[in-house]
Amino acid sequence: MPNAISGFSKLSKSEKIDWLIDTYFSDKEAARNLVEQYWNTDETIQKLHDEFIENTITNYYLPLGVAPNFLINQKLYTIPMAIEESSVVAAASKAAKFWLDRGGFNAEIISTEKIGQVHFTYDGDFKALKSFFENVKPKLIEDTKDITKNMERRGGGILDIELRPKTEDLEYYYQLHATFETLDAMGANFINSCLEQFAKTFQQEAEHKLEGQLDIVMSILSNYVPNCLVRAEVSCPIEDLKSKDISSPSLFAQKFKQAINIAEIEPYRAVTHNKGIMNGIDAVVLATGNDFRAVEAGVHAYAAKEGSYKSLTHCSIEDGVFKFWIEIPLALGTVGGLTTLHPLVKFALDMLENPSAKELMQIVAVAGLAQNFAAVKSLTTTGIQEGHMKMHLLNILNQFGATTTEKEKLIEHFKTHIVTHSAVVEAIEKIRR
Ligand code: MEV
Repeated sequence: MPNAISGFSKLSKSEKIDWLIDTYFSDKEAARNLVEQYWNTDETIQKLHDEFIENTITNYYLPLGVAPNFLINQKLYTIPMAIEESSVVAAASKAAKFWLDRGGFNAEIISTEKIGQVHFTYDGDFKALKSFFENVKPKLIEDTKDITKNMERRGGGILDIELRPKTEDLEYYYQLHATFETLDAMGANFINSCLEQFAKTFQQEAEHKLEGQLDIVMSILSNYVPNCLVRAEVSCPIEDLKSKDISSPSLFAQKFKQAINIAEIEPYRAVTHNKGIMNGIDAVVLATGNDFRAVEAGVHAYAAKEGSYKSLTHCSIEDGVFKFWIEIPLALGTVGGLTTLHPLVKFALDMLENPSAKELMQIVAVAGLAQNFAAVKSLTTTGIQEGHMKMHLLNILNQFGATTTEKEKLIEHFKTHIVTHSAVVEAIEKIRR
């Protein structure tokens, strides 16, 4: 076991790498080469990456792919996706093309409210706290003026602050529950700064105007944003679903709807179903420099809002019309954060013609819906492995160090044969014999 190291963050980048290589790697040259291979030769770009986080030693690349032909509210988009899973971009592109020929996707913003809370304890009388809060509320807002003035000039800011007693769930526990409109910013820094100022004012005022002990526990935004909602939808007459791989549209529609019904009542299926949705959502969220952990946490909480974990997509068949939709909370930004810092994020946003946060919410929701459509379509028709393994073929070939000629031959061969790991291994061995 290596010794603990103190002052690591103060070492230079090359000292950090030296320590790491000396401590953990037997083939020191190979390890050093790898770290260096992934450096960016452009010093400005590398410095930018070095400074995103602490202790950067190199870069960790993900492929950036694009899915063209997304018609959303009658506007055509090519959607950027950063993801490592082989079949995701192909599936998104296929679903985009399928719906392009059937009128495209419609998306609408339902709400854009963000939330933050100051959590505190108080051991006195609730009535006194309530009246103290009502008196101090204008000052809470007034004291954040320096933080909010720019946001307010653009039309956003603090929407409201509520006092919420939580003592039935936890002794002495209360919250200031605040709501915000942060426009094109995701708003985390704005919200957290406002909350910390609320906490400071609240505590100071309580010291001489409130009997009983009031202690701030913490101030932080919530990544659960059930009132920052977007809805995306596709629909068409059932007979229009007919395509190369859908010979019986009505059978397909019924089976598809049944698969969605299952994900609405069965958590084991719902989790995988929603994971497929997040394949599309996370890839766009990441490519556009947004916080996919925040989105994931909020989305899954929303999926469980009725007390059991459910599908985020829904399907109906009425009057001969097939309708498939998603309703999802997404707190996204198109200004601030990585959006101006990371050159590829800027590139991705340029590709989307610099959308507002609302437009990006719609694009991301559509990416999730399209991904889910592709997955459920495969699952209820051919099965998932056919398409998935076709895309995974190159990964297996690379794993076995296949040359370009070997790859060409085997890709041709597997156009007419089922791809399984063992079938690929066998085929490689055969052509190498
Ligand atoms: C794989 O990444 C995603 C799927 O499992 C989603 C689903 O089952 O709906 C194919």
